[in-house]
Order: sequence, then structure tokens, then C-alpha cells
Amino acid sequence: MSAEKIQIFDTTLRDGEQVPGCKLNKKQKLEIAARLDELGVDIIEAGFPISSPGDFDAVDSISKLVKNATVCGLTRANKKDIESAAKALRHAIKPRIHTGIGTSDSHIVHKFNSNRDAIIERAVEAVTYAKTFVDDVEFYAEDAGRTDNAFLAQVCEEVIKAGATVLNIPDTTGYCLPFEYGNKIKYLKDHVQGIDNVIISCHNHNDLGLATANAVAGAINGARQIECTINGIGERAGNTALEEIVMIFRQHKELNFYTDINAQMLTELSQLTSETMGMMVQPNKAIVGSNAFAHSSGIHQDGVIKNRETYEIINPADVGVNESSIILTARSGRSALAYRLKDIGFDTSRNELDILYEQFLAIADVKKEVVREDLIGLMHQFNQTT
Ligand code: KIV
Ligand code: ZN
Repeated sequence: MSAEKIQIFDTTLRDGEQVPGCKLNKKQKLEIAARLDELGVDIIEAGFPISSPGDFDAVDSISKLVKNATVCGLTRANKKDIESAAKALRHAIKPRIHTGIGTSDSHIVHKFNSNRDAIIERAVEAVTYAKTFVDDVEFYAEDAGRTDNAFLAQVCEEVIKAGATVLNIPDTTGYCLPFEYGNKIKYLKDHVQGIDNVIISCHNHNDLGLATANAVAGAINGARQIECTINGIGERAGNTALEEIVMIFRQHKELNFYTDINAQMLTELSQLTSETMGMMVQPNKAIVGSNAFAHSSGIHQDGVIKNRETYEIINPADVGVNESSIILTARSGRSALAYRLKDIGFDTSRNELDILYEQFLAIADVKKEVVREDLIGLMHQFNQTT
């Protein structure tokens, strides 16, 4: 059976930009959009046009710039939002309006002071109106993660009849467990008429650290689009991380999914996003963190030096990192020291290494990390005394 494509919907510039302190100017947004287009994402959510003149302008400019990806603008389920998005997207080669409304009882009662029938009516009206501007309309059922499945199925069926091309099932609060979220997608596949003619999309938040796991569960159960951000940035604890999804499908061929992302650009895109948003990437972040391919304990270092695959499931070159690094600390062993010394031009015999190792440990015990300059100093002193 041939592998199936998972569409990558990047929302770094919309959900990602909602992070406090991460506001970008237009030039920065255009730079990131251009790189996302090169990266190979299928859809770029460029912003929420009605939210501010700056956001409208950014969506308008990104629409003119992007050559390959679909450009998408977010709206609430009302005419003004939809008109604004349609206008901002008018120059896009492939425009998409992303409209929707909260469907959980919590949203229906507390946000809208409404009832289920009225919510369905507003959802259908919004999709119908958006379809008068563009062919491609994505509907989001906000807080679908906490929405009763039978009601969610009813909403989905009605918006499909109204012309929605993509159904976004967001776990807005990051509450679902992977099996629960997967079952929700399966339930919709089994109970919604017309669902096979649309794409189901996963939009998962990371409040319990499950955003990526939930998106994968969604795909396994029938979703074919995943909404994600570079470095997993987004509201509160963030969204599914794009780089994680891409590498999960590359490393687990048995899932039979692929994306069109050029993985070798992942590290560069991560750094660009982090620098322009002023938001550092945690060192232990999967795939793109500075420690993702760094080995510091003696046992691991010895294994990796003998064969990379003993402790690495990804070849760092596949994500644009030159090579894995051997970090020297008090936990490092002789083989790591010999490896790093060789790297700076010193080949040592077994006896020399025994002496050097004692001197190395004396430095390592007072420093967090023994760096290149320390090794040069160590060798200098060694050569003078022998
Ligand atoms: O988390 C969410 O529900 C969203 C929607 C607006 C798609 O970001
Ligand atoms: Zn979101």
C-alpha cells in the first residue's frame, strides 16, 4: 500500500504569534512566510485579518508573496470577519478562509450564552457566506476536544453540506488523551455523512504535553492535515511542533504517512523563528533543541563514537545539523576525551591518555563543560611536562 500524504498546515504566524511578547513586524512575517513556503508547508495561516490593521496588511502582503502554499486567514463566525479575510486574501493564488465557532457546552453557554441549535445555524451561515468568496473553506469546531461526539458529528455534517472543504477538530485546551482524541476522529469518520469528501484536520494544544501525540493519533484514525507551529510555539503551552510531526512520519515508516517538508531546513527555520520572535528554544527540545544531538555521559559517548545508531534515532544531517556533538563533562570517559583530542589534532597513545584523563577530570570537576580551549591548554601543559 502506498504511503498517504499528511498536509502540513503551519500556524506559526497566527496561533504562534499569539504568544505574549512574540509580536512580529511585517518584514519579519514576510521573511518567515517565504521560508515556510520553501520548507514545503501546504498551508500557511498568515493571520487573523479583522484583529488589527497590521494583521490585515500582513495577510494581504503574504498573499501576494507566497507562490506554492495555500494562504489562509482566520475568522470568527460572522460576516465582518469573513469579509475582511476575503479582502486580505484576494491576491492569494490559493486562498482559504478558516472560519468557525465554539461547539463545547462550556463555550456555548459561557462564551455565547446560546444553545446547540443556534450554534449550528451560525456555523452553517458562516461557511455558506465564506463560500461566496473562496472555494476552499476550513471550518473549526473550537474546543472540539471537550465537545460531545454526537453533537460534534451533527455540526460537522451540517457544515459539510454548506460546502466546507476541511474540518478542523481542535483540542483547544489540550485536554484530550491520545486514545480519546484518536477515537473522536474515528467517531466522526464512522458517523458523519460526506466526511470522506473532506479533509479532517488536527489542531492540538500542549497543555498536558500531548499535542504531538494527539495529532499522530488523529492521523492514525483518519485525519489528513495537521496544524502545527515551528518550535511548537502557540497559546499557553503551545501547539503541535511541526518538526516533531515531520520527523515522526519520516522515522516511523510503518505508519505509512509522508509530508512534503524539506527536513534539512528544520533547524534553520527553528533558529529563524526563535531569533525573530525573541523566544528561546529549550535545549532539550526534540529535534531542534541544542542538546538534541549532544551526548555527555561516558557510556553514551562511547557508544556513539563506535556507532552513531547506538544512541541516535535520527541522523542529525537529515534535519540540517552538521554532526552530533560529544560534550566533555566530569561524566565523560577516556574514549570521549580521545575523540575530542583527535578532533583538534592530537593523537594520543593509551599511556598518554591515562595521564591526560586524570588532568582532564581535575578540570571537569570544577567546570560544567570542558571546552576546546581547555583541551588546547591541557595539551600545551602536557607537552611541556613530558
Ligand atoms: O485552538 C483553537 O481552537 C484555535 C482555533 C481558532 C482554530 O486556534
Ligand atoms: Zn489554537
